[in-house]
Amino acid sequence: MNKVAFITGATRGIGRQIAITLAENGYSIALNYRNENNELKQTKCEIENAGAKCLTIKGDVSNFNSCEEMAKKVIDTFGEINVLVNNAGITKDMLLIKMKNEDFEDVINVNLIGTYNVTKSIIQYMIKQKEGRIINISSVVGLCGNAGQTNYSASKAGIIGFTKSLAKEVGSRNILVNAVAPGFIQTNMTDVLKEEVKEEIKKSIPLKRMGTTKDVANVVKFLASQESSYITGQVIQVDGGMLM
Ligand SMILES: NC(=O)c1ccc[n+]([C@@H]2O[C@H](COP(=O)([O-])OP(=O)(O)OC[C@H]3O[C@@H](n4cnc5c(N)ncnc54)[C@H](O)[C@@H]3O)[C@@H](O)[C@H]2O)c1
Repeated sequence: MNKVAFITGATRGIGRQIAITLAENGYSIALNYRNENNELKQTKCEIENAGAKCLTIKGDVSNFNSCEEMAKKVIDTFGEINVLVNNAGITKDMLLIKMKNEDFEDVINVNLIGTYNVTKSIIQYMIKQKEGRIINISSVVGLCGNAGQTNYSASKAGIIGFTKSLAKEVGSRNILVNAVAPGFIQTNMTDVLKEEVKEEIKKSIPLKRMGTTKDVANVVKFLASQESSYITGQVIQVDGGMLM
């Protein structure tokens, strides 16, 4: 097996761990990044150390033309795309009353429209291949909401609707579409929270800890594999039981 996985926003955090985990499991990796930096070099190095091919592709998921170019590059290099992981995401938290219009729009543009842009650019190739896996990284707040995150929660809830609708459209083409909804995972995104806030959150989680990027990557690995061949249109929570 030499399947190809394309992961967006994969130089750090959850995306990075997904890329490394899939590389360790025999996939060739197409890794999208926005800015060239040390994190990119280190991630590419780890992927290659795992014995996998790694194509790095600069691009902005919120720009449709950029996504079409990225998809073409992956196909030109590897000939196919078996797994797409829509991971790139941002937060711009603020209570709605104080939120700037552009902060609402930016979060929707990257998280939700970005997921649309990349998927739309790639789905034609998966249809031609007669197989594919699309795994969208949502969030538990897309299911339950969170004060200060109307923009982010709306984008992540939108991803769930997108996932279920697309799963219904392309199931007959042997393309499986699922979402993963992480809870609180230790990454740069959650590092910005104050220590006391993190402690409060941990108390509310039955497993009494924040998740690791590996906790999420293992579920993505499962959804990408043959072991999950009868699962589509689902939202798998990876949240230590935080939301039941
Ligand atoms: N950390 C958590 O607790 C948590 C919880 C639930 C969901 N998530 C989701 O998991 C995903 C990864 O988050 P993370 O915690 O690793 O955060 P992170 O900030 O470490 O990683 C996000 C990545 O997305 C990239 N990115 C941002 N905008 C982009 C764009 N326009 N084009 C291409 N790439 C772009 C960034 O460069 C970065 O590499 C996100 O979708 C996030 O919403 C995270």
